[in-house]
Amino acid sequence: MRAAIIDRFGGPEEFHLVDDLPTPTPGPGEVLVRVLAAGVNPVDYKIRDGSSGVAKKLGPEDFPLVLGRECCGEVAELGEGVTDLKVGQRVYGMPSMTHKAGCYAEFVALPAEGLAPAPEKADTIALAGTALAGITAWTAVHDLAKVTADDVVLVHGGGGGVGQFVVQLAVATGATVYATASAKHRERIERWGATPIDYTTQDFTKVSPHPTVIIDGVYFGTYEPSLDHLAPGGRMVLLPTLADLEPARARGIEVSVPAITPERGRLEALAERVADGRLEVEVSQVLPLAEVARAHEIVETGHAQGKIVLDVAGVA
Ligand SMILES: NC(=O)c1ccc[n+]([C@@H]2O[C@H](COP(=O)([O-])OP(=O)(O)OC[C@H]3O[C@@H](n4cnc5c(N)ncnc54)[C@H](OP(=O)(O)O)[C@@H]3O)[C@@H](O)[C@H]2O)c1
Repeated sequence: MRAAIIDRFGGPEEFHLVDDLPTPTPGPGEVLVRVLAAGVNPVDYKIRDGSSGVAKKLGPEDFPLVLGRECCGEVAELGEGVTDLKVGQRVYGMPSMTHKAGCYAEFVALPAEGLAPAPEKADTIALAGTALAGITAWTAVHDLAKVTADDVVLVHGGGGGVGQFVVQLAVATGATVYATASAKHRERIERWGATPIDYTTQDFTKVSPHPTVIIDGVYFGTYEPSLDHLAPGGRMVLLPTLADLEPARARGIEVSVPAITPERGRLEALAERVADGRLEVEVSQVLPLAEVARAHEIVETGHAQGKIVLDVAGVA
C-alpha cells in the first residue's frame, strides 16, 4: 500500500512516500479502513522527533513507522468478531495512544471501538480532523472540568485544533466562555458565542473575570499567570501531556491532563454535532499525502488555525 513513512526519529525531512508497504491485517476486534483523509496533530510531530512518551516506547522493530492518529475512511475488511460495522461503510476514528496503527497510509487497521459510522451530512475532511481533538476536548470539558452553566471558563488557544472544540463544547453547557487567540480567530470565536482575547495585544488577566475553570491548550507562557488568575476553588485542565502539575497542586488547585480513550459513543456524539452544525470544524489547510512534511511544519509552528488534514485518497 501507499504510505508516508519515517525510518528513524527526526525532522519533517525524514518523511518519504512508499507504495509497497504491506497492507495491515485486521486482528480480532479490528477493522481495516481504507483511509480517505487523515488529521495531523501536535502529537504526530512529537512522535516523529522522538520526544513524546509514545515515541519512547517504540523500538527498532516499529520502523518503518507510519504516523497519524486519526482518520476518516471506508471499511475495507472486518476482523474476527466485528459485526456492527459493514464493508464499504464510511467511518471515522482513532486508535488508542498505545496502539501502533498509523493513518498516513492507504489502509490502517483500527480497533472497532475507536470507530464510529460517519453521518451522511458530515464532511469527510472535517471528520478526519475530529476524533483526537474532539475526544480530548470532550474529556477536558465534561469529564475533568465538569463545566456547567454556572462556570466562567477561560480557554487558552481557542483557535487551535483542540481549542475550537473546547470553546464550542463549553459554550454549549451554558457557561460564560473567554478564549485567548490571535486576531485571525476572532470572528469564529465570537460566532461560537465566546469572548475572544487577543493575546498579542491584551493581557487576559485584565480582560476576563476570575474564571472558575481554565482549560489551557498552550501552557508555555499561559500556565503561570493562570495560576494567580483562577477563582478560589477553581479547576484547571492542561492539555500538553508533559505539563508539570505541581505548581497548581502546591496551591491546592484541582488540576489534570486528559488521558484520552477512543470510545464509539463519544465519537457518535461528536459526529452527530458535526453533521447538524452544532460543532463547526475549521480545517484551514488540506494537503496531499505527498506534502506531509509541510503539514508537520505548519502544526509545529504552534499557530495552526483549526486543523490541518491530509487528503490521502484525493477526496477534497
Ligand atoms: N492530553 C491529550 O491527550 C492531548 C490531546 C490533543 C492535544 N494535546 C496537546 O494540546 C496542545 C494543543 O493541541 P492542538 O492540537 O490544539 O494544537 P494546535 O492546533 O497547534 O493549536 C495551537 C493554538 O495555540 C494558539 N496559541 C499559541 N500561542 C498562544 C498563546 N500564547 N496564547 C493563546 N493561544 C496561543 C495558536 O493560536 P494563534 O495562531 O492565534 O497563535 C494555535 O491556534 C498540544 O500541546 C497538544 O500536544 C493533548
